[in-house]
Amino acid sequence: MSDRLQVLVIDDDAADRMAMRRHLAFAGTAIDVQEADTGAGGIALLKARKFDCVFVDYRLPDMEGTALLQNFYDINTDQMPAPFVMLTGQGGEAVMAEALRWGAHDYIVKDNVTTAAVMISLAKAREIFDLKRARHSAEEKLRQAQKMDAVGQLTSGVAHDFNNLLTVILGNTRLMHRRLEALSDPDARTAITKKVEAVESAARRGADLIRHLMVFSRQRELKEDIVDIGQSVRATVELLQRTLGERVEIRIAGEEQTPPVGVDSTLLENALINIAVNARDAMPEGGRLTFSVANAQFNGADYALISVSDTGCGMPEHVRERIFEPFYTTKPADEGTGLGLAMVYGFVRQTGGHIEVESAEAQGTTFRIYLPPARGEKNKEKSNAG
Ligand SMILES: Nc1ncnc2c1ncn2[C@@H]1O[C@H](COP(=O)(O)OP(=O)(O)O)[C@@H](O)[C@H]1O
Ligand SMILES: [Mg+2]
Repeated sequence: MSDRLQVLVIDDDAADRMAMRRHLAFAGTAIDVQEADTGAGGIALLKARKFDCVFVDYRLPDMEGTALLQNFYDINTDQMPAPFVMLTGQGGEAVMAEALRWGAHDYIVKDNVTTAAVMISLAKAREIFDLKRARHSAEEKLRQAQKMDAVGQLTSGVAHDFNNLLTVILGNTRLMHRRLEALSDPDARTAITKKVEAVESAARRGADLIRHLMVFSRQRELKEDIVDIGQSVRATVELLQRTLGERVEIRIAGEEQTPPVGVDSTLLENALINIAVNARDAMPEGGRLTFSVANAQFNGADYALISVSDTGCGMPEHVRERIFEPFYTTKPADEGTGLGLAMVYGFVRQTGGHIEVESAEAQGTTFRIYLPPARGEKNKEKSNAG
């Protein structure tokens, strides 16, 4: 609502709360103070809204301050929902140590509080809170990158061998078909043919997976076509209209002229198909799939942007966070491979682009793919526009 700092004081002693209010009022910064006189009251407020800092007394009528901390502290990530300062009595070193262990960012000894001490604690707690949060998100990103990298390396090791195995399997099923034709018993022929076909289709599916994995693990050199994104999207939409079924209404909502992009056109089409097939899966009752093409900026640079929106079931956050991971799928084993979006991600990153997803449960999903202009196209575009 405003830039005013939102501070919560949890203390059962009205005089102490008053004193904190005075210190905070003297501070010269615009601060709104909320009060709670029990641990439960404080917890309820903390769950209901965001605070920029929380001062919590150690001795509360219904719990100890450290119990309140424990209620919010995530021991795995070392994160708290807000900066916390523990208020302790004189000589409470053990309490201070315990408070810090349970996620408090600073502490104040109550007996000789000064306005300066309160302000320093407020600033310090907020700074440590921000540092911890920044470190956590950097670690998360690193972990994610390492995971993708590890899968990439693992994959490149097995992909070729696996491909060879599949070639052997498919070669043999071809031979078996030929032998089957010579079989005199028609019932046996039909029965065995069915089995051989099952083996074949499984092997083909395996080969598809491997192809996707090879893109993901950068085993395949991408060719660079100079692609008109609008044209590419139109071609894909035409294909999809024939394949996705009548329940999905597909349309192109907007199409700006974008500078040509240097991408592997087959992989771009593949990526759009992957996204569209996911969208269809997310709309079992049918729905709308909308494409658009526009010029856009990402981190200050110019890109051609393809957006794909569906009116499907959407995703909760814990799914959304993982969709680009190889093998992550929420679908039954025989329907999902979890490789579609890993492939899309690998392709976009190798192309020097970016991909974003916006989704919420029952709100549908939008994917945005930012693709960089082909080399030498950037300046041309500038002078055209200017
Ligand atoms: N448009 C979408 N709407 C809802 N969920 C989606 C959508 N696209 C992807 N997902 C989720 O992301 C997961 C991973 O997708 P993907 O990598 O293509 O693998 P798969 O389709 O084989 O499950 C899906 O299982 C699904 O849970
Ligand atoms: Mg998929």
